[in-house]
Amino acid sequence: MPKKSAKSLRSYRWYGPDDLRSFGHRSRAASMGCVHADYEGKPVIAIINTWSDINPCHSHLRERAEDVKRGVLQAGGFPLEMPAITLGETFQKPTTMMYRNLLAMETEELLRSYPADGCVLLGGCDKTTPALLMGAISMNLPAVFVPAGPMLRGNWRGQVLGSGADVIKYWTERRAGGIDRQAWLEIEQGIARSAGTCMTMGTASTMASVTEVLGFTLPGASTVPAVDANHRKMANLSGRRIVEMVWEDLKPRDILTERSFANAMTAVLALSGSTNAIIHLLALAGRAGIKITLEEFDSLSRKTPVLANLRPSGDYLMEDFYYAGGLPAFLKALSPYLDLSCRTISGKTLGENIERAEIYNAQVIRTPENPVFSSGGLVILRGNLAPQGAVIKAAAASPGLLKHTGRAIVFDTYNELNARIDDPALAVTADSVLVLRNAGPKGAPGMPEWGNLPIPQKLLKAGVRDMVRISDARMSGTNYGTCVLHVSPESFVGGPLALLQEGDVIELDVERRKLNMLVGDAELSRRRTIWQPKKAIYPRGYGKLFIEHITQADQGCDFDFLEGTESIPEPEIH
Ligand code: FES
Repeated sequence: MPKKSAKSLRSYRWYGPDDLRSFGHRSRAASMGCVHADYEGKPVIAIINTWSDINPCHSHLRERAEDVKRGVLQAGGFPLEMPAITLGETFQKPTTMMYRNLLAMETEELLRSYPADGCVLLGGCDKTTPALLMGAISMNLPAVFVPAGPMLRGNWRGQVLGSGADVIKYWTERRAGGIDRQAWLEIEQGIARSAGTCMTMGTASTMASVTEVLGFTLPGASTVPAVDANHRKMANLSGRRIVEMVWEDLKPRDILTERSFANAMTAVLALSGSTNAIIHLLALAGRAGIKITLEEFDSLSRKTPVLANLRPSGDYLMEDFYYAGGLPAFLKALSPYLDLSCRTISGKTLGENIERAEIYNAQVIRTPENPVFSSGGLVILRGNLAPQGAVIKAAAASPGLLKHTGRAIVFDTYNELNARIDDPALAVTADSVLVLRNAGPKGAPGMPEWGNLPIPQKLLKAGVRDMVRISDARMSGTNYGTCVLHVSPESFVGGPLALLQEGDVIELDVERRKLNMLVGDAELSRRRTIWQPKKAIYPRGYGKLFIEHITQADQGCDFDFLEGTESIPEPEIH
């Protein structure tokens, strides 16, 4: 039985009454060719579309919006496409993370200020997914997510190429003198062959999977390749489903619980997903009024096996994952670690959604009896260098470096890193620990993906391919290496990273979850008394707002004034 009647639809306040304002709304709808029958008594569905000419990952979303509209119309709704800011990972500077919260605000306010009864969210490139979800959770109108889907596998001279991971791999080889310019140009032309998101288990694929596990997509939607005909069908079915959801009054906070977030964390770990997902999940939970912590991540990490054999930690790509059964088959294998009773937007439970899923390639999707790693995709570290925590993707690190002691080479800024890293005079050895600071949420600002610090060229030429690297930055989920990230609190606000000096000994012990600088307390106190904060670089504008309100990485990097579930009144219509 529908819970909603036509007159209780939110949009009725705009289109229904016999008054001056509604006359204006109806007459202007008429100017766009609409008749009363288009919208009268029908759910208005906002299609929030992050398509743009500058965003290759979303270049098919203009067409997909038409598929969604078709579904909305078929189900008796009224679709309205609403463009929103695009966060194109490869082009937007200094980093899309700077604008995640802006898109979240835009999504929430578009939904609030216009006559939306429900929404379909179109996006997929890294920060877009959490941003759209954060806005939709805060607005709490029925919402379906249509993930952009991964692009096709890359190809170079018959070899499969994966986004990000192979860029770093071949760039490292080029700097070491192992491949020439011709080969490099061929790789450039072969690594991104279609619309869609990065096809490794980077941030985009991790967050699409999180979205499905949290219950925001139709079953299996997160793994359908962007250019597969099934992607168009999924968009169509999503349009149909959102109309039903409006009548059912099924809203985001009806499906989000502590248990669904525990499922999402478990899935990230078993996918050996992106470290960025930790920050985004903290922010998403904050919007739903649910508290999750780094400790929960870490305790789940100790017992969750890695079951997805996907790059950068494993061997395969998202296209292979899809053919192997996709996320539903993966979740079925992971079932013993999940709460299958969680609700989803399909109207069914997670368990019902995956009931009929099967694994078609046991190399790509493993089982707990035959995992890729028995535990520990992502690990949370603490110590006097990171009292509020730091993160390492242990599954993508060199096993021999997971317990390591070495002297720090410290770079104060990203520019200094680039200027000094290949200096032949740099006193660096393979045992050194490369440290970058002032790269955090406020310091950079925006916490860019600088955490995969380059290996000095002279070491590359000597055959070194990995070193311990530490920063308060993030790292692309498509990258690999022994990189300690998200050090909190960041150096810009006076976190202990700010007190580190070149030559200090750093001790990393992933097994024991430790990250320490071997410097005495008295010496650290002395250094603190002479530490001077750096000046923020934005005197005005969005950057100023960002720095004043962004929270630290261990809290999700949301704006402090956007967290929580306090209700905001509906806009007056007069
Ligand atoms: Fe958009 Fe990787 S650049 S998902």
